[in-house]
Amino acid sequence: MPESIFEELKRYVGFDEADEAALRALHPLVQPHFVAIAEIFYQRILENDGARKVLVEGESMVGRLKVSLIAWMERLFSGPWDEAYFELRSRIGRVHVRINMPQHYMFGAMNVMRRGLADVVDRGFPGDPERLSAVRRSVNKIIDLELAIMLHTYREDLLSAQARSERLATFGQLVGSIGHELRNPLGVMETSLYILKSRVKDDERGLKHVERIGEQLGIANNIITDLLDMIRDRPLARERLALAQVLKQAAGAVQKPERCRLELEGLGDVPAIEGDAGQLRQVFVNLLDNAIHAAGEDGRVAVVASADGGFVNLAVEDSGPGVDEATRRRLFEPLITTKHKGVGLGLALVKRIVERHGGTIAYEPRNAGARFVVRLPRAR
Ligand code: HEM
Repeated sequence: MPESIFEELKRYVGFDEADEAALRALHPLVQPHFVAIAEIFYQRILENDGARKVLVEGESMVGRLKVSLIAWMERLFSGPWDEAYFELRSRIGRVHVRINMPQHYMFGAMNVMRRGLADVVDRGFPGDPERLSAVRRSVNKIIDLELAIMLHTYREDLLSAQARSERLATFGQLVGSIGHELRNPLGVMETSLYILKSRVKDDERGLKHVERIGEQLGIANNIITDLLDMIRDRPLARERLALAQVLKQAAGAVQKPERCRLELEGLGDVPAIEGDAGQLRQVFVNLLDNAIHAAGEDGRVAVVASADGGFVNLAVEDSGPGVDEATRRRLFEPLITTKHKGVGLGLALVKRIVERHGGTIAYEPRNAGARFVVRLPRAR
């Protein structure tokens, strides 16, 4: 079996069974100091303007984070330092990547952690400099391994963003030129149709067909607009927004069968966000459009708003059949669709716009129907 990244890292710094034994032996010495080290750790973050901004919920989230950090130190000294350890630490690293924490704070934070532990260790071996030096080496090795894992998760994220942007660049060039080329013939068709309409105004069947062509031209134009929006990345015109307003506009813009119910819940109480009203309206038009389509004639669509900590959550739920397992994994990729008519750009565009606002979108299966949850950071 090829060597794993963690095995390679341990081999690189020479982290072996002796280090594992040394860390386990240190556990009873350092454990009584975990709380104090966690206090200093978050104190430093709060003292630093840039780092403090990462704590979007402010000091109120520090209590919860201290508990996580103490558990982190527990595992640091108790192991086992195996592949599950690497996975767990990578998952923690990804949490920091997801919240856009700049990498340089990781170095700063790890330095504070290293010093906090070193202060305790240095006092623990009076008169035994050799043992102290060996123990210090073990602590330094594991702290550097931790830093390496954290940085590895940032690299993972960079590589996947690069691959995504390369795919989109090729796709974008092609799509951009096809889109532009199609606009002209569609424009000509629209003009001719307008003239034709006045000619057939007394022919009921003819008029019906002309209208149908008009509808289809509208659909074709919307597809091109979505495609061009996908590749253009229009800059965000950020302003303070009440989501109730954005959602009402979106609800007013979608077409829905008369009997299908559309309900908006809890919108009045959610905090304001900072965002681009037009682009966010597009997000909810696309989500509502999908939900109404899935719910069908007699279905129900609900938008349920709530807030937790630094975020506003908007769940768009429908009473349709839900999304099957296989489609779920690729739901937000371009060109994935379950509709007969769409080309599968709606959700890809939604994801892109939400992420550019520092938010996330996720699909959550439920007993009946689908639920898409948009999570957006509240205005500072
Ligand atoms: C030695 C460096 C660090 C360690 C070991 C560490 C550890 C952790 C752990 C264990 C969690 C919980 C992850 C989970 O939910 O599974 C966490 C979350 C978090 N950390 Fe760190 N952290 C470090 C550096 C920082 C720094 C420098 C900041 C801020 C500047 C920070 C901000 C946060 C925030 C905001 C969360 C919560 C994210 C969320 O739940 O949305 N961390 N960290």
